[in-house]
Amino acid sequence: MNFKVMTAAILSASLTSFVSSNVMASDTTQSNLEEARGLVKQFGGQLKPELKKAMKSGGPVVAVEFCHSKAPAIAMALSEKSGWDVNRVSLKARGAMAKPDAWETQVLNDFNERKAAGEDISKMDFSEVIHEGDKTTFRYMKAVGTAEVCLTCHGTNVAEPIKQAIAKYYPQDNAMGFSKGDIRGAFSFSKVEK
Ligand code: HEC
Repeated sequence: MNFKVMTAAILSASLTSFVSSNVMASDTTQSNLEEARGLVKQFGGQLKPELKKAMKSGGPVVAVEFCHSKAPAIAMALSEKSGWDVNRVSLKARGAMAKPDAWETQVLNDFNERKAAGEDISKMDFSEVIHEGDKTTFRYMKAVGTAEVCLTCHGTNVAEPIKQAIAKYYPQDNAMGFSKGDIRGAFSFSKVEK
């Protein structure tokens, strides 16, 4: 092998391994994204019907207690099952875990801008691979809109008994004053890569 051919061989070998490691990285990203979107379906799919049931059978005051105990429990069970960190966050938070960190705050602000630009909330999500030292984390967020039923506890005109029930569990509550169609918050999931 002369020098030129050898250089070309080395170059093409290293190019191939570069390309394949990139393809591998994007494969992982794609499967993480699919997993995260599956978790949204599971989380929402458990929460919403249960909330509706509690509203119907016990009324909104009982449903507040349901949200207080069940929402964190569903998140925890899902987290244990999936290995993901599972949470919900909001720029105007109610739950103890719902205060967004810097990355989440940025994404929530972006979601509001995307909504203002006309994007549909129901499909709005964002993911990013974050490298910190030798730790790689896949982070994902999915916007959550405000429907009519949500206004009972998150709206501008929450009834007095419901306000009291909320104040009992959340003296620092910041999650009222929303209108139908607003972004209420987001699901926020993360997974540390092995
Ligand atoms: C019966 C009252 C009630 C109704 C109705 C209700 N919520 Fe909530 N919501 C709560 C309570 C209580 C919490 C705090 C749960 C916790 O402790 O984790 C909460 C928390 C949340 C959170 C997590 C972020 C945060 O601020 O804590 C989101 C997102 C949310 N609600 C969205 C909705 C949406 C969307 C609807 C309508 C489909 C809705 N909620 C309807 C009572 C309610």
